[in-house]
Amino acid sequence: MQFIDLQAQRKRIEPEINAAIRQVIEGGRYVLGPEVGELEKQLATWCGAKHAVSCANGTDALSLPLMAWNIRPGDAVFCPSFTFVATAQVVPWLGAWPVFVDVLPDTYNMDPASLERAIERVLAEGRLKPKVVIAVDLFGQPADYPAIRAICDRHGLKLIADTAQGFGCTLNGRHPSDWADIATTSFFPAKPLGCYGDGGAVMTNDSALAELIESLRVYGKVTPTDAATRNFHHDPKYLSVRVGMNSRLDTLQAAILLEKLKIFADEILTRDVVARRYSAAFSGKLRRVPSIIPGGRSVWAQYVIEHDNRDGLQTHLTANGIPSMVYYPVPIHEQDFAARFAPEPGSLPVTEAASRHVLALPMHPYLGEDAQDRVIDTVLAFNG
Ligand SMILES: Cc1ncc(COP(=O)(O)O)c(C=O)c1O
Repeated sequence: MQFIDLQAQRKRIEPEINAAIRQVIEGGRYVLGPEVGELEKQLATWCGAKHAVSCANGTDALSLPLMAWNIRPGDAVFCPSFTFVATAQVVPWLGAWPVFVDVLPDTYNMDPASLERAIERVLAEGRLKPKVVIAVDLFGQPADYPAIRAICDRHGLKLIADTAQGFGCTLNGRHPSDWADIATTSFFPAKPLGCYGDGGAVMTNDSALAELIESLRVYGKVTPTDAATRNFHHDPKYLSVRVGMNSRLDTLQAAILLEKLKIFADEILTRDVVARRYSAAFSGKLRRVPSIIPGGRSVWAQYVIEHDNRDGLQTHLTANGIPSMVYYPVPIHEQDFAARFAPEPGSLPVTEAASRHVLALPMHPYLGEDAQDRVIDTVLAFNG
């Protein structure tokens, strides 16, 4: 049994994928070729945003808006500690300070009350300037965007939706980019919408921000606004007007994603069927089964349960041929690189408890009922 079966998906659309790859190779426009522009159009349409700008990976997607907003030493960026390390690590990369916020025990997404307390604490201390909040759609479900947006508005903060695990998720039918100043995603192969290598994108309704990010992903190249407002005495193609980076999406990856996007809605529905079947079997029998925010739709990047003897359960599953993963055994604030950014002792109790109890079970759209039953029976047979 596979934890995530990417080969089953590849077989489903093999001729289409192979034809798309061949076309790119024969077309010869390997970086930012026409498929990249087409993908950006379709990604924007998918989540009802005005703009999508692709980039090299989901980590760059997070750093690009921070660069665009000139986030620097002395700035505070609020983010969860119970997430993949990239969410927080981009902050010190730009010299700013990650301030860790606790998550809610039922959804594992940012706790608005903990965010409010963290902002108040930073303001009271006066050492850092609150600037940005990064909310994460952990395991595929949307964060509480209405509440988080309201807090950001009250304090004049920018909001990034790190939807690397949740691209395609909705809250009351709306995508994270409806609330956030910008939503970022990753096309890492294991993500619900993944490519065959690294890739990422941002989605935003802010046209000026999208233009700036297009410039930053290619060494701060001249934007249409720069060209309209300044006189250049050289071909602007070779001019850099700001410090940027090289973060472009390969055309091959865009072509692969265009094919995968055609079956993505169907795959989300199938993941939901698997999740519901798991939850019906586990409900009331485990320490915790996933619960979704009211009005939310998860894309089920992971199906995560909790068990008092998580490590014992994992050993039992492994012995019975069932793969499982722990996301995340060490919260970010306990990682070596984050030692400098230690939160107030005791301020992240939910994060610390979750990291001891969570276990992700096999989840993908091609997990048949027989395999699901094996997972269910093996989990329920454990009485450690
Ligand atoms: C929540 C979250 N943010 C950011 C990233 C970074 O994406 P990438 O690996 O494409 O850089 C990931 C996944 O890897 C993620 O899960």
